[in-house]
Amino acid sequence: MKFLTLSAILIAVQSAPSFEDAEIAPWFKPSIVGGEPVANQSVYPWVASISISGSSHSCGGTLIAKNLLLTAGHCSAGSASSRKVTVWRYDISKTAASEQAVQYSVEKIITHPSYTGSPVPLNDVSVWVLKQTSNPANRVVQTVNYAKTADHPLFPGKVRAIGWGTTRQGGGGSLATKLRQVDINLISNAECKKSYESQYPNGVPDSTVCAAEAEGGKDTCQGDSGGPLFQTNEAGEVVVSGVTSWGIGCADKGNPGVYARVGSFSSWIDAQVAQYAA
Ligand SMILES: *[C@@H]1O[C@H](CO)[C@@H](O)[C@H](O)[C@H]1NC(C)=O
Repeated sequence: MKFLTLSAILIAVQSAPSFEDAEIAPWFKPSIVGGEPVANQSVYPWVASISISGSSHSCGGTLIAKNLLLTAGHCSAGSASSRKVTVWRYDISKTAASEQAVQYSVEKIITHPSYTGSPVPLNDVSVWVLKQTSNPANRVVQTVNYAKTADHPLFPGKVRAIGWGTTRQGGGGSLATKLRQVDINLISNAECKKSYESQYPNGVPDSTVCAAEAEGGKDTCQGDSGGPLFQTNEAGEVVVSGVTSWGIGCADKGNPGVYARVGSFSSWIDAQVAQYAA
């Protein structure tokens, strides 16, 4: 959820369409600003693009088991049967078939029971049960670890976000075609709260993690929602510690990106994995 101005939000919230159909509300779709295109299709064989009712990309997600997708609660309203998930995507201006992507239908959507969507998303995590429907090139899909404790990210410094979201500072514009990545500084929740406490006094609970550059310029944006914020440890293992959630605008100084803190939800995610992982 990345929005432009407070007045735009208020209007948008009041006239919010139900999320059941083809499109989630556009301000609920935080792309990568200030990043760079990923080298090729095989770099992140665990990142998913979600589409709804045959539309193009709407949100991102992360494979945490062969048949389980971690994404945002605000990407998850509506029916499972209207959703498609694809992995091994790169250029979303092409079709999944022409990219020989791995395609999935969605069997079940399990959104966190405490998820709320307004005025900003809270407890913004959802686990989807997938069924692979096509893998024409026998792509090898990977899964990644997720943070198990709330103090993840364990090491300070940069975190990486990836997605197909829009690329213009301030927000707006069209989706990226090729998957992009950006490395952003982690900031403390105290600093992040300060940025948003006048507008959203409860918008940055401990169960979020925030990332921003001091001068702005790097952020997730519309279309990145649901995708991963992650670090790679010394062993080269990816650990997903955030789910792209919301922020005001994109990459503007003083408006950090807010992510669901995956480690705060790990016991709930573990329970879904225990019940549904194939
Ligand atoms: C994709 O990019 C990565 C990272 O630059 C590189 O190591 C790999 O060889 C590339 N793979 C293909 C198939 O081009």
